[in-house]
Amino acid sequence: MSVEDCKIIDLPKISDPRGNLSFIEGGQHIPFDIKRVYYLYDVPGGSDRGSHAHKNLHQFIVAMSGSFDVVLDDGKEEKRFHLNRSYYGLYVCPMMWRELDNFSSGSVCMVLASERYDELDYIRDYSQFLNLTKSKP
Ligand code: TYD
Repeated sequence: MSVEDCKIIDLPKISDPRGNLSFIEGGQHIPFDIKRVYYLYDVPGGSDRGSHAHKNLHQFIVAMSGSFDVVLDDGKEEKRFHLNRSYYGLYVCPMMWRELDNFSSGSVCMVLASERYDELDYIRDYSQFLNLTKSKP
């Protein structure tokens, strides 16, 4: 998996003077079925989140409110994405080291995940992550 496999995906947007509506169907708008939803909120300015990779988990990250950056690193290349709208999101494939930073005040980061929470799926040590990516062609 390379950082090139991770991309911004535009979501359907039903524009309406009463308020806009977007939706996400697992396997339809994003390339996996959704087993879990979690969100980050009340993030203090200057905070960093993430700093880990997942062995098998696929994720889709949406800025439901405010803005923040997601930095993805596949062990060879690094790419920074700025998320600031709720009608698109970032697809993150497995084996991507990620950092989330630059949170605006009041921002909400929603993450759709392909699996339930499993600590065994995490790689929390960056040098271990690099070793695992080096052993793959
Ligand atoms: P973590 O994934 O390390 O947070 P982040 O990547 O956003 O900085 O999770 C922080 C804590 O929350 C950790 O103790 C595990 C727990 N947690 C759950 O229990 N269930 C979940 O679905 C998630 C995402 C985290």
